[in-house]
Amino acid sequence: MSEWQHSTANRKVFIKTFGCQMNVYDSDRMAEALAPLGYAQSESIDDADLVILNTCHIREKAAEKVYSELGRVREARERRREAGEGDTLIAVAGCVAQAEGQEIIRRAPAVDIVVGAQSYHRLPELLGRAGRGEKVVETEFPEEDKFAELPKRAATRRPSAFLTVQEGCDKFCTFCVVPYTRGAEFSRPVEEVLAEARRLADFGVRELTVLGQNVNAYHGEGPDGKDWSLARLMHALAEIPGIERLRYTTSHPLDMTDDLYAAHRDLPQMMPYLHLPFQAGSDHILAKMNRRHTADEYRRAIDKLRGARPDIALSTDIIVGFPGETDADFEATMQLVREIGFASAFSFKYSSRPGTPAAEMDEQVPEDVKLDRLHTLQALLAEQQRAFNDSMVGRTLPVLFEASGRNAGQLTGRSPYLQPVHVEAPAEAVGQIVDVEITQAGANSLKGVIKPL
Ligand code: 5AD
Ligand code: SF4
Repeated sequence: MSEWQHSTANRKVFIKTFGCQMNVYDSDRMAEALAPLGYAQSESIDDADLVILNTCHIREKAAEKVYSELGRVREARERRREAGEGDTLIAVAGCVAQAEGQEIIRRAPAVDIVVGAQSYHRLPELLGRAGRGEKVVETEFPEEDKFAELPKRAATRRPSAFLTVQEGCDKFCTFCVVPYTRGAEFSRPVEEVLAEARRLADFGVRELTVLGQNVNAYHGEGPDGKDWSLARLMHALAEIPGIERLRYTTSHPLDMTDDLYAAHRDLPQMMPYLHLPFQAGSDHILAKMNRRHTADEYRRAIDKLRGARPDIALSTDIIVGFPGETDADFEATMQLVREIGFASAFSFKYSSRPGTPAAEMDEQVPEDVKLDRLHTLQALLAEQQRAFNDSMVGRTLPVLFEASGRNAGQLTGRSPYLQPVHVEAPAEAVGQIVDVEITQAGANSLKGVIKPL
């Protein structure tokens, strides 16, 4: 360890996370990697010696947010300097770092470190270099496995945790930057995943959400030397004492295998809720997106899921205004949503991403048409979500309490369907799964009371 690293005792790091759950997981791992250097986590940029923006590149809006946030970080740094409170190192991590590299420092010269998502285990070394005044850009895909290099310690005390088991994507949907920013698909070995899951369970984690950009394509090496599927991994995770709930995200319809449907049927720990993006309802657009499935194949996947687990609720991702999308194509998307019925959904206007095939396609859809379609779609999705939430009133749901609520004496937890549930409950109930009678439904959350024993 260098002298500079020794002198960092009692420093503070502020990590701001943008984008998906994978980044949330990575931010925790960065915090873990920094703890041995004396960095404690801070809730504010104003007292941070190190600010890390863990960024998202999926749509233009997400990527641009980084630059406005960097403006605020630079001002905070100047205030600290003027007040004689010390200096602030500024790091940009995640997918914008990976995609833009050096360009970030050109646009925002205040940035000291640019580090791609595959290199977080190198943070201590990169900080040492930046501390000596060097501008550091680290966006290679290193040989070594970043998971193996990271500290073997759980950062979380929350009863619900993410566990990344698979990263990267080989699907190359024509709109998507992920295969470029996160690289080729990689599955962590089974033993490594199980060891991390056991540690999390020891720390009081009751619910695991297994993460991957294309998580149901998981094929990690098992202890038997064979590749294990996600279903097989789920069976092994379900056996860990303390792990009472399992989820996985995000999935591709093409990788919904028979053993995974069977796991939904056979494992009570698997929550009856699945996020399964379909992106578009028109086969013509699905082909241009290189999704490699049709709308009917998606319908069949949903039928099989419902056959395996009749109470399953669904969530999805949808893009409107992909190049060439006609009114009829958009209507096919609306029709699919009406047929299936979603408990929740994310919907986006197509955003042209440099370097992706769709960015080069003719027939880009005008912004106002995209916006109209988005509003139409979102009205339908909001109606479905509201109806789903309303259907919970009067039912008793097992709720995993996660944290104290907004009001004193209140806790917030999650239903099996991932709805936030607000309940009057004693603080000791955090980390427990308790039967709650749902009394009220809102657009985004539920209220309930604990059932008397
Ligand atoms: N434009 C709009 N939405 C996109 N997504 C991915 N790339 C784009 C893009 N270029 C959406 C997809 C994906 C979700 C994570 O983000 O719906 O499933
Ligand atoms: Fe992107 Fe498609 Fe891979 Fe999902 S499956 S990460 S949308 S390329």
